[in-house]
Amino acid sequence: VDEGYGVKGLSELGLQKIPKEYIHPSEEHFTTSTVLSQESIPMIDLSNWDDPRVADMVCNAAEKWGFFQIVNHRIPMQVFENMKNAVHKFFELPSGEKKKYSKEELKKTNNVRYGTSFNPQVEKALEWKDWLSLYYVSDEEAAALWPSICRDEALEYMKKTELVIKKLLEMLMKRLNITSIDETNESLLMGSRRINLNYYPKCPNPDLTVGVGRHSDASTLTILLQDEIGGLYVRKLDTDFWIHVPPIDGSLVINVGDALQILSNGRYKSVEHRVIANGNNNRVSVPIFVSPKPTAVIGPLPEVLRSGEKPVYKQLLYSEYATHFFNKPHDGKRTIEFAK
Ligand code: SIN
Ligand code: FE2
Repeated sequence: VDEGYGVKGLSELGLQKIPKEYIHPSEEHFTTSTVLSQESIPMIDLSNWDDPRVADMVCNAAEKWGFFQIVNHRIPMQVFENMKNAVHKFFELPSGEKKKYSKEELKKTNNVRYGTSFNPQVEKALEWKDWLSLYYVSDEEAAALWPSICRDEALEYMKKTELVIKKLLEMLMKRLNITSIDETNESLLMGSRRINLNYYPKCPNPDLTVGVGRHSDASTLTILLQDEIGGLYVRKLDTDFWIHVPPIDGSLVINVGDALQILSNGRYKSVEHRVIANGNNNRVSVPIFVSPKPTAVIGPLPEVLRSGEKPVYKQLLYSEYATHFFNKPHDGKRTIEFAK
């Protein structure tokens, strides 16, 4: 498997069967999972985002589901349309152009990287997905390093989501007795941002592989833009049941990541999710991972422990946590054990 061509390159060969490297053990095949089709993650209208009832809905969703969708978030639809179109444009580039951003070619920086699967070096079975990952440092660096075909769209999407991210974090922190997001907790909660452009090519054997295997995110919060194809499933907390996250035009999916679960001492839940492969369509999605600054020490917040709660997690550098996360295959909810 030549990483440089990605799964998109494979998909376009018109194979009748996927290569064996992509076949996952049968217990990971989605056909053996139970989907609750009557249930859905909360949908939250942010029109009156200063109303305490809205904050209650956000915090309840973060405690009970770890996932919710938002509408009326004040981000223009055009920003989303431009972003999704730019994802298609990047992946439709000739492989030689995309390969310039691959691990093999990049000598200086890891802040911009094109790749396939999650971690092909260590995975027993590969994921049916290609990606471009953009770690934000500054507008100047983005101008110099990000692929010009999607740079402005990605920067715009990142900037237009800033305010809603801050509002959501303020709501979540208030319930933890933290009344404002000042400079110190800003770098702890949202000190770094990474935007991923995901491309899931259509697949000849969708039932034998996965788009993304079961995992939880390492972030504080993840903001996800998905197109109209669908295929993201979320595990219902404390059960073996899965729930589909239906694409809703103009909405964003928000989920709690491991860092927020750790900071809240387990109150907010980072839940497992996965993406199935699709037999008929290419799908794109664009998550923004809002995370602690790599040099921040994460651990249950003092405001949370003030009432005498025992800390469930230890203090550790976020960069250590992230390194652990990125050095292994997707493995459900096991990563967070590292913080115990
Ligand atoms: C992910 O959680 O890694 C991707 C989510 C998606 O593509 O919907
Ligand atoms: Fe994820």
